[in-house]
Amino acid sequence: MSGSLLITGISQLLTLRGSGPRRGNSLSNLGIQKDGAVLVREGVIVAVGPCAEVERHAGAKRAEKVDVGGRVALPGFVDSHTHLIHAASRAEEYELKIQGASYEEIARKGGGILNSVKKLRAATEEQLKRRARAALEQFAAYGTTTVEAKSGYGLEVTSELKILRLQKELNTEQPLEIVSTFLGAHVVPAEYRGKADGAEKYIELLMEQMLPEVMNDGLAEFCDVFCDRGAFTREQSKRILSEAQSHGLTPRLHAEQLSRTGATALAVELGAASCDHLEQVNAADIRALGKSKTVATLLPGCDFHLGLEKYAPARKLIEAGAIVALATDYNPGTSPTVSMPMILSLACSQLRMTPGEAICAATINAAYALRRDQRIGSIENGKQADLAVFDVEDYREIPYYFGMNLCWMTIKSGEIVWMREYGNKSRKTKRHTGDGCTTKRDRIQR
Ligand code: NIG
Ligand code: FE
Repeated sequence: MSGSLLITGISQLLTLRGSGPRRGNSLSNLGIQKDGAVLVREGVIVAVGPCAEVERHAGAKRAEKVDVGGRVALPGFVDSHTHLIHAASRAEEYELKIQGASYEEIARKGGGILNSVKKLRAATEEQLKRRARAALEQFAAYGTTTVEAKSGYGLEVTSELKILRLQKELNTEQPLEIVSTFLGAHVVPAEYRGKADGAEKYIELLMEQMLPEVMNDGLAEFCDVFCDRGAFTREQSKRILSEAQSHGLTPRLHAEQLSRTGATALAVELGAASCDHLEQVNAADIRALGKSKTVATLLPGCDFHLGLEKYAPARKLIEAGAIVALATDYNPGTSPTVSMPMILSLACSQLRMTPGEAICAATINAAYALRRDQRIGSIENGKQADLAVFDVEDYREIPYYFGMNLCWMTIKSGEIVWMREYGNKSRKTKRHTGDGCTTKRDRIQR
């Protein structure tokens, strides 16, 4: 990105200023600037504050101006848990689930993750990339600017590496940042099942062949394990993650989703960046997370999509002082959505988080879960200019409206990467070079 951009006309600018992860009461601290503006140079924020003040900043005159017409701006969402690359939907299983089959029953019959593995192995790189790229465009359209992405539907050396390589390519070929996680330990693949030592043999392959290749080619920053009934035990997870750590990967875990396995305690013990899901945590797990730097990432899209009643105990986690984050868990089996605004709606209505808490959890805390809170997750001088502008008058309307996309503009590293177009009008109609701060709404949608 080159040049400067002056973004004016922001009725509520949620800066989330004050870096570092948010716990307890500070989770609702949005650092709201009324009638705000942001000046960006070379993709980096150089001034944030009241519009009139930012406009006086040296360099503001020469900047390209974008007046957002009195809308609300916040840091671009950081989606810290996705399974971006997969070959197809599992709509056929969705119907079975509605008719009464459980996620685990379907998995035991060779459906579930193994179904997606079969489809991914059969898919070409072009097919996988096309699907992922279309999803990334949608992520941007819903205000997301950074996406964590896991492997895990390959489960053999070539296919796992193929996924991670595609992620690396996509990272450079489109505007959103992709943060890669190696999830070779998603489940034991079909060809290793049915033998007494099948799981052990697969873990051996993962540790002795996959991990070194992932490291050699610089294909991942994090290593994840699905530690649950029907996937990997706590003991196996510990071995895999310790080995990954010795290679330089930071651990994270799918923890306590379907059953309580002790994965949360393991995550804390290993100093994992996050442990995600947490529907089945107990009081000791909650206390441990309250005292640790391991982020408690909640994924309410899964419970919603699977029609489950038990959501993660968000209020208890917040009260205990845990660093709570929110993510979509975009995947074909449990959470087929890229919409962070929908996740915010679920966080408010089902997890009883306030809109302010949910926004902190989806931005600065999620950035911390990806160990990027020094660079993204808030709108402050020196940070990357990642912003989402919503077509609302009050930030609480972002989760209040659900199932509709009110994201109006998405900016990544100072570049407009997505903008809602009205009819045939192009984005040019929203740009101007004149002076003057205005937070008058230029269009009322509803
Ligand atoms: O996060 N729980 C494990 N992994 C995914 C589901 C993957 C799938 O069903 O394809 C999850 O929910
Ligand atoms: Fe997941």
